[in-house]
Amino acid sequence: MKDNIALIGFMGSGKSTIGRILAKYMDMKFIDIDKMIAAREKKSIPEIFSEKGEQYFRKLERDIVKEESLNNNIVIATGGGVIIDNENIKNLKETSFVVYLDCTIECIYERVKNSKTRPLLNVENMFEKIQELHQKRELLYKISSDFIIKIDSNSNMYDTAEKIKKA
Ligand code: S3P
Repeated sequence: MKDNIALIGFMGSGKSTIGRILAKYMDMKFIDIDKMIAAREKKSIPEIFSEKGEQYFRKLERDIVKEESLNNNIVIATGGGVIIDNENIKNLKETSFVVYLDCTIECIYERVKNSKTRPLLNVENMFEKIQELHQKRELLYKISSDFIIKIDSNSNMYDTAEKIKKA
């Protein structure tokens, strides 16, 4: 039964911030998959990537998405790469109303350009890397979602949460 809400979207699209607001509006519990991964490993996400590798991170991500999907009445903020795994898409779609925060590339870049916590964007030409990854993932975000919200630098997170609540 779809009684959770899962937020998907690229890094920097606002999944955690909007998820927390939405959970308050809906009187639901909020969980953040990346935070749970970090807590389970007792390491930051960059440490997990550099010490154990992306495959190891993806396995943890898959396990935690599976476990948390079994919950009821929760708002789930996912990591931006959750949709690259078919099992994650299946688990989320079966149990959650999946919302894609469709943020423009320019807005994503503005939000993440000074971030040091995203190992996949820790490259010289970050804007090009965002474009490349975004292009690879866009269709997956779209086909994984029940509802799409467009976001740009003028968007207000409270309005976005309100729109999701209405949907
Ligand atoms: C990732 C996104 C990150 C985090 C990890 C990998 C990705 O989460 O899960 O660095 O593959 O897009 P955010 O979307 O919260 O930044």
